Amino acid sequence: MNQIERVLEAIETIAVPNRVVVLTGAGISAESGVPTFRGAGGLWKNYRPEELATPEAFARDPRLVWEWYEWRRELIRGVSPNDAHCALAWFEREIEGRCGFSLVTQNVDGLHRRSGSREPIELHGNIFRARCVREGTGIELPGPLAELPPRCGCGSLLRPDIVWFGEPVPLIGDAMSEASRADVMLVIGTSGAVYPAAGLVSLVRGGLTIEINPDATPLTDAFSASLRSSATAATRPILEALAGRIGACR
Ligand code: APR
Repeated sequence: MNQIERVLEAIETIAVPNRVVVLTGAGISAESGVPTFRGAGGLWKNYRPEELATPEAFARDPRLVWEWYEWRRELIRGVSPNDAHCALAWFEREIEGRCGFSLVTQNVDGLHRRSGSREPIELHGNIFRARCVREGTGIELPGPLAELPPRCGCGSLLRPDIVWFGEPVPLIGDAMSEASRADVMLVIGTSGAVYPAAGLVSLVRGGLTIEINPDATPLTDAFSASLRSSATAATRPILEALAGRIGACR
């Protein structure tokens, strides 16, 4: 029996879940062609985060920061959600009305929304949104930017609506509340390197926690089961088994 089959068997024996929470990281978008941050070829292997993803970097050189984000935006516009994203969107609809569900993502690529997930908690923001540095108002910026850095109608700079290193994570309270009520937590494609997101799995009280990642992470030992697998190989089978368990007894 392989590792995924062992987890599927375990799912058959758990109490019927009342709330499933999923946390995703850059790894779930890797098979769509979006670079991760820390793996081989990761963004932080080729760029220095303190030069691009901090308030100080933006204050120092807003054009350079926007050039980097515009490069990432163009890359992401050219890719599609993969089956792991799509399986999560399917699962959310499948269990609606029978089990609580919450998708928390560290990703800013918007691929969960594009695959049909409703209201993902985008902990670190969204690369297709910006906000005025003076007024704080948000603006959707889906297309290519005519000028860099872009400006608000009030004349002030627009900044990416992204949570940078050293900044507070406004949605972490919502995510912690969801995690603390989870009977099952699935964590897909994160290195567990960045808090507070990496601390969410520790809030699950007595439930089944599953990690999907080709590599072990510092969080691996905290999980009920950790699958050395890609997101597209393991996500759908696990969600189908959970949907069966939820639907099987109601
Ligand atoms: N399927 C599942 N996981 C994968 C796959 C795949 N096909 N390919 C790579 N991974 C795993 C890697 O093994 C790694 O553990 O995805 C993880 C990606 O880790 P990071 O690049 O560190 O990305 P993430 O954990 O999302 O980073 C968290 O750090 O830089 C900040 O704000 C940024 O949101 C980001 C945060």
